Amino acid sequence: MNKLSTDKERLEQAQILLRAQDVDKSYLSGPTRLDVLTGINLEVHRGEILVIVGASGVGKSTLLHILGALDHPTRGTVELNATDIFSLSDKKLARVRNRAMGFIFQFHHLLPEFTALENVAMPLLIDGRKPKEAEEVARGLLGEVGLDGCVDQKPGELSGGEQQRVAVARALAKSPLIILADEPSGNLDRANSEMLHDLIWRLSRSKNQTFVIVTHNEKLAAKADRLLRLSDGRLWPETL
Ligand SMILES: Nc1ncnc2c1ncn2[C@@H]1O[C@H](COP(=O)(O)OP(=O)(O)OP(=O)(O)O)[C@@H](O)[C@H]1O
Ligand SMILES: [Mg+2]
Repeated sequence: MNKLSTDKERLEQAQILLRAQDVDKSYLSGPTRLDVLTGINLEVHRGEILVIVGASGVGKSTLLHILGALDHPTRGTVELNATDIFSLSDKKLARVRNRAMGFIFQFHHLLPEFTALENVAMPLLIDGRKPKEAEEVARGLLGEVGLDGCVDQKPGELSGGEQQRVAVARALAKSPLIILADEPSGNLDRANSEMLHDLIWRLSRSKNQTFVIVTHNEKLAAKADRLLRLSDGRLWPETL
């Protein structure tokens, strides 16, 4: 057997984790209707880094919010592990969002009053895990993102890149099926961006963690297994 399958083979063999079918999204503002997404079809494979690029205002964040169950589509379906998530009750949908989805945004949204360790442990505590166990998981994750030495520091005492790595650790806390990231390095300088991009790539390879990332950053796009462009309400294959 081949010792290492190519990235393409790896992708072809991977299970489909998320599938969006005929997704439309329109916004109403007064009498005008803005059709942002018009027929999105997308399959995300387990363990892949899928990057979506596109001009400002084209609907990338809108799409990411729908894939992450933060917003409902106007039409169409999103299946996570073959479950049609928008057919679930609000309570079950909230559970899917909390358990299965991890989010990383351009601005980290860490809680300023809490230490790095507490920020990462928080989703686990909210989920009802014992404090000691939550702390242990959080400590391990902070180690994985290279922040062993910063566990007791508050966000304001960390650099932008460190804060964003805490946000990655927090997104990983509940072992989500998929991590959705909206311009994760949009607020970082080049060195910190590269560190974050390397971290995302490493997590995808070592944990088979699945990422859907919206970015304008070409270096991050270069790390994608697949690159798509959102334009005219639809997704199109894109090459670097
Ligand atoms: N809640 C809303 N109500 C009305 N219109 C909205 C709403 N959210 C977004 N829009 C509009 O939908 C379009 C797509 O917005 P979106 O934020 O998804 O774009 P984007 O591709 O993420 O842009 P950027 O690259 O600037 O972040 C924009 O024209 C925006 O004004
Ligand atoms: Mg956006």
